[in-house]
Amino acid sequence: MPTPNLTVRTYQASDLTALVALFNASVHGLTADHYDAAQRQAWAPAATDMPEWQTRLSALELLIAEDGQAIAGFIGFSLAGHIDLLFTAPGYARQGVATALYAAAEQRLRAAGARELFTEASLVAQAFFAGQGFSVQQAQTVARGAVILPRMLMRKPLEPR
Ligand SMILES: CC(C)(COP(=O)(O)OP(=O)(O)OC[C@H]1O[C@@H](n2cnc3c(N)ncnc32)[C@H](O)[C@@H]1OP(=O)(O)O)[C@@H](O)C(=O)NCCC(=O)NCCS
Repeated sequence: MPTPNLTVRTYQASDLTALVALFNASVHGLTADHYDAAQRQAWAPAATDMPEWQTRLSALELLIAEDGQAIAGFIGFSLAGHIDLLFTAPGYARQGVATALYAAAEQRLRAAGARELFTEASLVAQAFFAGQGFSVQQAQTVARGAVILPRMLMRKPLEPR
């Protein structure tokens, strides 16, 4: 696939269905090296709860990476410095989508006065966040029903520029 021509824009309500589909595809398509089938199913269940997604997204700043009309990834964060969601579409993996999204989010967070960023990184995303200057604070687990998902609490102090 040629290098994508990415633009980053803010989320609109009309993106909801595509964003949730991308989340499901990303979990099922990009995490199998670290999470087994039961864990992936617990993380992104077949039956999507759209009202729950709407509520979750409404509390976040959201940026979308687009390649023409195609959504290549998204990031969700709070202005307090919590990176909550970062997902790339499987067909766009390792092409700089998360890098572009993270850069735009960090710029927004710096402008909002955040002094420190933190995230509960999946084991898939750990190397990505390490590359962005985050360090591991603590290994954690999160329970989804009877299934346990390991993750890493990571943080990055934002030095003034
Ligand atoms: C983690 C994730 C967001 C990375 O997205 P991406 O768009 O592929 O990342 P980028 O192309 O910007 O990667 C930049 C660098 O991060 C590192 N990186 C990214 N994905 C990696 C992976 N799976 N394994 C190891 N290093 C990785 C590499 O250093 C990469 O540079 P390189 O490709 O030149 O080696 C993506 O794999 C994803 O959506 N995973 C599934 C969902 C998930 O775990 N989300 C995070 C929830 S906290």
